[in-house]
Amino acid sequence: MNPVKLNLFDPAFHADPYPVYTRLREEEPVHRTVMGAWVITRYADVKVLLRDNTFGVFDIPTRIERKSQFLERNKTGELRTLAQAMRRWLMLCDPPDHTRLRGLVNRSFTPSAVEALRPRVQEMVDQLIARVRDTGKMEIVGELACPLAVTMIASMLGVPEEAHASVTRWADGLSRVLDPLRSLEQYAEMNRVAQEFLEYFRQLFAERRRNPQNDLISSLIAVTDQGDKLTEDEMLSVCMLLFIAGEKTTVNLISNGVLALLRHRDEFERLKQDPALIRGAIDEILRYDSPVQLNTRVPKKDFTLHGKTIPAGDLIYFSLGSANRDPSQFPDPDKFDITRKENRHLAFSGGIHYCLGAALALIEGQLAISTLAREFPKMELVPGTIDWQKEIIFRGPQTLPVLLNP
Ligand code: HEM
Repeated sequence: MNPVKLNLFDPAFHADPYPVYTRLREEEPVHRTVMGAWVITRYADVKVLLRDNTFGVFDIPTRIERKSQFLERNKTGELRTLAQAMRRWLMLCDPPDHTRLRGLVNRSFTPSAVEALRPRVQEMVDQLIARVRDTGKMEIVGELACPLAVTMIASMLGVPEEAHASVTRWADGLSRVLDPLRSLEQYAEMNRVAQEFLEYFRQLFAERRRNPQNDLISSLIAVTDQGDKLTEDEMLSVCMLLFIAGEKTTVNLISNGVLALLRHRDEFERLKQDPALIRGAIDEILRYDSPVQLNTRVPKKDFTLHGKTIPAGDLIYFSLGSANRDPSQFPDPDKFDITRKENRHLAFSGGIHYCLGAALALIEGQLAISTLAREFPKMELVPGTIDWQKEIIFRGPQTLPVLLNP
């Protein structure tokens, strides 16, 4: 057999990455791609390395800033606003900056603040469904998952309703910034969007300083820890980060979930008969088709694994998507089983960068999918092939049309 080759940009790989992952885990669990990056695919390795503090984050902001020099001044602008805002994003920070920022943000992003959103999530799901109910059709990505994910982050922050449309537009414009497949012009456009976003939130912060409300922005302003507090620029970065980290990921959870359930009718039937299975179902969706397939790290010193030495400073992808299908951790890993036992998936990563928004994502996934199952028990996919997003970090369909009452 030919040696296994991984091309992260190959449409066939996007459509079904799992056969390639199987070969990588078996034949070359530390693999060097044609582009020179490394990919680690076994569950045990990924789980341990996520907690290893000899690995740091990949410095995307500096890469973006360096691209500025190729832009014609005054024509497409510079990329500095975007790069500087990103420098303070938690998943792009190493300790001690990460420890300090995460500690302060955690104080506002409490389980009770997230849990309090549950009724609002249900209300939003119901509204979005009501808009299309009479048509008998729904495009899950654009008509349910995207508006739900963005609106919930906006509501949590305390963005007034009348600004939700602008915020949605900005969040969409910035949502692919972490994916390496971006052209210079796309970065320039994202920089412009970042400027608008920051300008709006600067005004909102001023307003909340004058009139604090029961929302995340007021809580970020108030947060202090032994005399330390977030600067205005840090708070602005946190707001932008929540949209970047929380939109596409949650959208993919909901759309991958609807897809998996409608392709596995037996599991869909079990869920309808016992709605309490929804918690396990969401974990299985996260494992089976992980919304975030890869995360990036850089070793601070040379590091050897399975006989391969990765030099300090090289880019490494940890394949969460592959780890979550590793048979040494998950018996019968390609089976979609909503009652799977001991489902310790890595879809939310691990170690210090464990997903801050996991609790919110779970509530949104549970309420969106259980409401669809309850209201539309006969729901079916519109026949046709799935057009997967052309991303290497995220996995989810570009669109997912369903028939609600076939
Ligand atoms: C199903 C939905 C979601 C998935 C699968 C997901 C997945 C992840 C993953 C894999 C990471 C770690 C990245 C790394 O290790 O480099 C992460 C980090 C993060 N996520 Fe999520 N996420 C989801 C939803 C959300 C939501 C709704 C929010 C916020 C509203 C959010 C906020 C964050 C933040 C702020 C971080 C950075 C944490 C840090 O570096 O300390 N996520 N997420």
